[in-house]
Amino acid sequence: MEKKILFPQIGGLVHGGDYNPEQWLDRPDILDADMRMMKKAGINCVTLGVFSWATYEPEEGNYHFEWMEKIIEKLYQNEIYTILATPSGARPAWLDGKYLEAMRVDNRGVRDHHGKRHNHCMTSDRYRDKVGIIDRMLAERLGTHPGVVMYHISNELGGECFCPRCVQKFQMYLAEQYEYDIERLNSEWWTSFWSHHYNTFSEIEPPYVNGETSIMGLNMEWKRFTTWNMIDFMRYEIAMLHRVTPDIPVTTNFMGLYGGLDYRKMALRLDAISWDNYPAYHNDFETFADTMYETAFHHAVMRSMKRDKPFMMMESTPSLVNWHGVNKLKRPGVHKLSALQAVACGSDTVQYFQWRKGRGSYEQFHGAVVDHIGTDDTRVFAEVAEVGQLLQKLAPVAGTLVGTRAALLFDWENRWAIWDVKALCQQTKKYERTCIDIWKEFLKLGIDMDVVGSEEDLNCYDVVVAPMQYLLQPRTAENLKYFVERGGQLLATYFTGYVDAAQLCYLGGFPGDGLKELFGIVSEEIDSLYPSDRNGVEMKDGSRWEVKEYAEILRVQDAEVLGTYTDDFYQGSAAVTCKKYGKGNAYYVAARTSAADMRPLFEQMLENAGIPVRKLPEGVEFHTRSGKEGNYEFYLNCTTHTVKVAGVCGRDMVTDAEVSEEIDLPPYGVAVIKKSE
Ligand code: GLA
Ligand code: ZN
Repeated sequence: MEKKILFPQIGGLVHGGDYNPEQWLDRPDILDADMRMMKKAGINCVTLGVFSWATYEPEEGNYHFEWMEKIIEKLYQNEIYTILATPSGARPAWLDGKYLEAMRVDNRGVRDHHGKRHNHCMTSDRYRDKVGIIDRMLAERLGTHPGVVMYHISNELGGECFCPRCVQKFQMYLAEQYEYDIERLNSEWWTSFWSHHYNTFSEIEPPYVNGETSIMGLNMEWKRFTTWNMIDFMRYEIAMLHRVTPDIPVTTNFMGLYGGLDYRKMALRLDAISWDNYPAYHNDFETFADTMYETAFHHAVMRSMKRDKPFMMMESTPSLVNWHGVNKLKRPGVHKLSALQAVACGSDTVQYFQWRKGRGSYEQFHGAVVDHIGTDDTRVFAEVAEVGQLLQKLAPVAGTLVGTRAALLFDWENRWAIWDVKALCQQTKKYERTCIDIWKEFLKLGIDMDVVGSEEDLNCYDVVVAPMQYLLQPRTAENLKYFVERGGQLLATYFTGYVDAAQLCYLGGFPGDGLKELFGIVSEEIDSLYPSDRNGVEMKDGSRWEVKEYAEILRVQDAEVLGTYTDDFYQGSAAVTCKKYGKGNAYYVAARTSAADMRPLFEQMLENAGIPVRKLPEGVEFHTRSGKEGNYEFYLNCTTHTVKVAGVCGRDMVTDAEVSEEIDLPPYGVAVIKKSE
């Protein structure tokens, strides 16, 4: 595999984070100390200017970039590169005072007051004008500096605006989507129900909470529009910068599984994917290893949006955050473990929010590399510096990729449809949890699955799991059939193929759009169970699975029955099936069971596909990255005791020791094995 270096200027892995010098301009001693301490911590990149608008432009039209220019230059002299943010994440007070339309209107139609951040009307022309001017000046004054390696658009784009301008833009968007044919919209939205017929596009309001929320098509289109409008805004910012400096790559920081925007659509407009990673480590509701596995899933979602290059962990905390319910410290060693997990999953960066704790306001107690004490002899600083050294050792890993032959399908629009549908049990739909639990089970077998959209090219995969694929996009069914036909191993579950992209139910039996033929079954009814209800599945191999929450009742056409229900009026009927289709197999699991129960089925699929599984001790994660010059194996001990891992050969880049056969991983320990060819 060809190496894809994100930052040729930096060469290796990036170690950096948000740096907010505008908070310390009256303390040159602190700015000097920062430079010295960054060197000591092995920082080679910082993110600047995320919230600097009021310092750049304290009054309208009165611009000051010279202070930032000096900082970028000083960093550059110290071989520290800059990711330069556009300042559109928060607006100065003068701007809102003069241009009211920049402030968002909420879902009851009430306009916000000035304050906070991330709350702009993305449609407002005045706001766009102001952003455009400052972005262009930023590119001219700062973007041309050789220290600037990337642009960071705004910050954590999100939310929605219900102002009159946005409403009008939504109506225009709909008119274009439905080719000015209001009757097409009426039919796709099934508006003959409850007399909700529209005569014109201008009658359509967005889903105000105190208004029209009962049309699934409307709710979905509003989400699609919000994504489209956000992308429109983001592209506008990118265009402003690229007019001056067309070669600087752009990213914007995603928020994990944030549900307000379809990140895959946004990803198409970005040069690299970056995200902000803040798990609740050491909580009291799951094991530490579970928190880690779940974080790995998030990394996989990010990685899979651009499979041909590494992604970036743009933010993480070296110690604690200030906005969790309980802001617990990362235990000693966990910083290294979590940093290396990001790299193991395909990130070429370990970045923090933030470099130095501010003295006041909302985030004054958020963790940072440098604490209020101000010294470099703290536990946190030492752990960060250790990570800095380690990342330097791991420089050859930069640009290598995680190549995997297994994928899990996960669609944003399917999420929206499942959240919105009035069916099942509102509390236990749990689409995301279901996906994560299955993904985790594969990781325990040493398989770091990609997480991709249902219409994406599945050619590079041999095993695909599609949990609860309720909404089928226009190409999903064809895609899945082709995948199995050419030899793929596919597993789908209950609640698959009920509706099309307009959320109209398929007629003639579920799953629709030709998937009945693929799986050889028809799902006739779905039973939602109360929390204390249980059913079971008796598998042909004699094992028993526990069924909770959902059970579909199937008619089997031409599939083999692998398991049947043990209880209730559908006792004895098919619960798990498999159909040979073309050269592959299509498995269907009609009931919700634990992912652990399904494990033998996953192992069977992997075996059919010739993908080897790894025997791993409980709580140890395994990942691989490969490139032309070498293959790297990562072992992460997510437990508090020493663990032996067998079958490990090569050179451990962490300890510099040659390893053959077995390694001892200390509590929270990490090994990165360079495979000998
Ligand atoms: C987000 C933001 C940062 C900061 C951190 C705190 O990721 O992008 O500006 O507020 O959260 O955890
Ligand atoms: Zn608006």
